[in-house]
Amino acid sequence: MTNRKRPQVYITRKLPDAVETRMRELFDAELNVDDKPRTREELIAAIKTVDVLVPTVTDRIDAALIAEAGPQLKLIASFSNGTDHIDIDAAAKKGITVTNTPNVLTEDTADMTMALILAVPRRLVQGARVLMDKPGEWEGWSPTWMLGRRIWGKRIGIIGMGRIGTAVARRAKAFGLSIHYHNRKRVSPATEDELEATYWDSLDQMLARVDIVSVNCPSTPATFHLLSARRLALLQPTSYVVNTARGDIIDEDALVQALRAGKIAGAGLDVFENEPAVNPKLVKLANEGKVVLLPHTGSATIEGRIDMGDKVIINIRTYFDGHRPPNRVLPNRN
Ligand code: DGY
Repeated sequence: MTNRKRPQVYITRKLPDAVETRMRELFDAELNVDDKPRTREELIAAIKTVDVLVPTVTDRIDAALIAEAGPQLKLIASFSNGTDHIDIDAAAKKGITVTNTPNVLTEDTADMTMALILAVPRRLVQGARVLMDKPGEWEGWSPTWMLGRRIWGKRIGIIGMGRIGTAVARRAKAFGLSIHYHNRKRVSPATEDELEATYWDSLDQMLARVDIVSVNCPSTPATFHLLSARRLALLQPTSYVVNTARGDIIDEDALVQALRAGKIAGAGLDVFENEPAVNPKLVKLANEGKVVLLPHTGSATIEGRIDMGDKVIINIRTYFDGHRPPNRVLPNRN
């Protein structure tokens, strides 16, 4: 590194041991061994003195917070793929570079999306619960008991055909689903051919024709409540909604109402509008078997988290070696 002084790096959450060890070797790293989320006051105090902030999706790095940063804060190296928790424009205006950890979560998140796509129609959690909660009461196989809905042969409509959306499409195709997608722009003809995918310029028209909707776009002002009450009403009563992207892309109250009224058949959610708070009405629906809820574990594999940490380290080192970090996030991307 060209800098003689090791960069002072403030890490807001506990990271895998291997990542923390490497960070300690390379940087003057302040870790969060207890994993207690940092308060706003603690974040403000830190960014007045450190060179690098390593936040994650549970930290709100908004314009007001960035305004408190001292002139020494050069880099926000987020331990996350999404950057909706950071005001990128405010950082850029202050000359602070922002980086993220793309690519390494793609396959894990797509796996979990597929798990939810299967779990809801096939009543995975309800079935598992029978044996966990009342094992003695199971009377054995029955031709008409615990019937779900078939996946094979159905249509999936993917909202957001970026890396994760495409990885979901590959898995869904292997499960016999036909692929439909809505995206700001069409994917390459080669990808469309590989996936035998149908592009829908109109999200409304796609929603009216698919059996499973998978939300895989980023959270931006343009995608806030993209699945609104009006759009949810376009879905068929036999359809399912799966979201492993961000909670605020779906109007959660409208989703609850649609599920309650039988306007859609079920939902699989890994993300929520007010995380970590979960709407109690969704929890009730989960207990009734209409939805499957996961605690934002879409990317939660040890391999993925170590890969994310490696990306954070590479971004910090590259920056302090005087180069452009590989995962720089530019303003107006969000
Ligand atoms: C991210 O990094 O953006 C993910 O939401 C974590 O799963």
